[in-house]
Amino acid sequence: MNLRTGRRRTLLLSAAVASAVVAASIAVIGTAEAATTLGASAAQSGRYFGAAIAAGRLGDSTYTRLLTTEFNSVTPENEMKWDATEPQQGRFTYTNGDRILNQGLSNGSKVRGHALLWHAQQPGWAQSLSGTALRNAAINHVTQVATHYKGKIYAWDVVNEAFADGGSGGRRDSNLQRTGNDWIEAAFRAARAADPAAKLCYNDYNTDGINAKSTGIYNMVRDFKSRGVPIDCVGLQSHLGTGLDSTYQANIQRFADLGVDVQITELDVAQGGNQANVYAGVTRACLAVARCTGITVWGIRDTDSWRGGENPLLFDGSGNKKAAYTSVLNALNAAGPTTPTSPPTSPPTSPPTSPPTTACSATVSLNSWNGGYVATVRVNAGSAAVNGWTVTVTLPGGSAVTGLWSATSSSTSGTVAFRNVAYNGQIPSSGSTEFGFQGTGSGPTGSPTCAAG
Ligand code: G3I
Repeated sequence: MNLRTGRRRTLLLSAAVASAVVAASIAVIGTAEAATTLGASAAQSGRYFGAAIAAGRLGDSTYTRLLTTEFNSVTPENEMKWDATEPQQGRFTYTNGDRILNQGLSNGSKVRGHALLWHAQQPGWAQSLSGTALRNAAINHVTQVATHYKGKIYAWDVVNEAFADGGSGGRRDSNLQRTGNDWIEAAFRAARAADPAAKLCYNDYNTDGINAKSTGIYNMVRDFKSRGVPIDCVGLQSHLGTGLDSTYQANIQRFADLGVDVQITELDVAQGGNQANVYAGVTRACLAVARCTGITVWGIRDTDSWRGGENPLLFDGSGNKKAAYTSVLNALNAAGPTTPTSPPTSPPTSPPTSPPTTACSATVSLNSWNGGYVATVRVNAGSAAVNGWTVTVTLPGGSAVTGLWSATSSSTSGTVAFRNVAYNGQIPSSGSTEFGFQGTGSGPTGSPTCAAG
């Protein structure tokens, strides 16, 4: 990870000097007044600037002052992990996760969920499971936690750190990996079914440029996109040493080009002569890619960091702004006000008045386990555009739909008609769209039918 290579150096700028630099930069940037906090300056280009926070520090007034004034996104540093949320199998505790959630929501911040499945910080009971028992427990964990936070999480790190370090570009060995290579896509499908509104991210470290590990992840994301596995974003943790890889921005760009958002999820930089420059370089790289939607630093003050002694954050132990803070703020403000970069989310305003009855077709891909399944349905237009569609699926006896996204349904069992929602009713000629549902029992076996109009 190259995390421990940073040397301790004396902070070169005093708080007073740093403040003066901020004030000077505000005076010269643009015609509009430059924003004076990280969150507000990131918001000028439709992005967020967040911090990982710990429930145990929320009673610290300096900490909460910085948190509420500077940041417009929060990530729980540990409170939503598996060991924290399901310490005993089937018994869920959300007390500290909810504290982080409510802290963020009450401040008008986005909340990033971190992390549904990870080989580390598993509760003891999960560590001792394997095979089908572990797979079922893991999918149940994803479903339960994502359901608890349904509609409130901006983006979930659905799977964390599943790729190996070194040159293989392959998966890391873990108890989860040993349940089968499809464990990651099963987790993403379960997360989508539980909380269709959350962006679903794959998150990892040592992905700070184009290298074997990031290429392995890139290939997985490309495969997921081609097969309709629900994935919306890639988290590049960015625990950095004293330099920035020359391909850092190009790596962000290649993920964006696959059609996923990119988020810098756990940024911290070893303190050294280059710390401020590295922070600025990361910020500029994100701003340069339209689908890089935000940056999260992994802690607020140096004394809050997991990298003890490396002083890797934007505020010193007393809560003073460091040179690195100023360089990030200036980089954010230099981008200036622009339109938000996320793809449009508004549904079409007026439905067609006399929809044509052009043919469409549908295919189902199933991910099943003992007692349940997730079905992903691709709806294809023929040679003409489709304005509205209904896909009919027959479920076997004992099967019932328990979750649904990107469609409405006529019933939950038997013959079920799925109708488009506002934003995905119009499919261009030869184009396609997707919806999905989760159910108990066995998934549909026959071919679905599709009616346009
Ligand atoms: O809360 C207990 C405390 O009661 C106990 O006395 C103490 C004794 O060790 O441990 C405390 O828990 C620690 C916890 O942090 C809270 O401080 C755990 O031991 C410690 O392992 C845990 O470390 C966390 C680490 O993930 C675990 O792998 C760090 O805070 C957290 O910053 C770090 O975050 C990870 C991301 O989730 C994923 N990417 C890498 C990143 C850095 O390792």
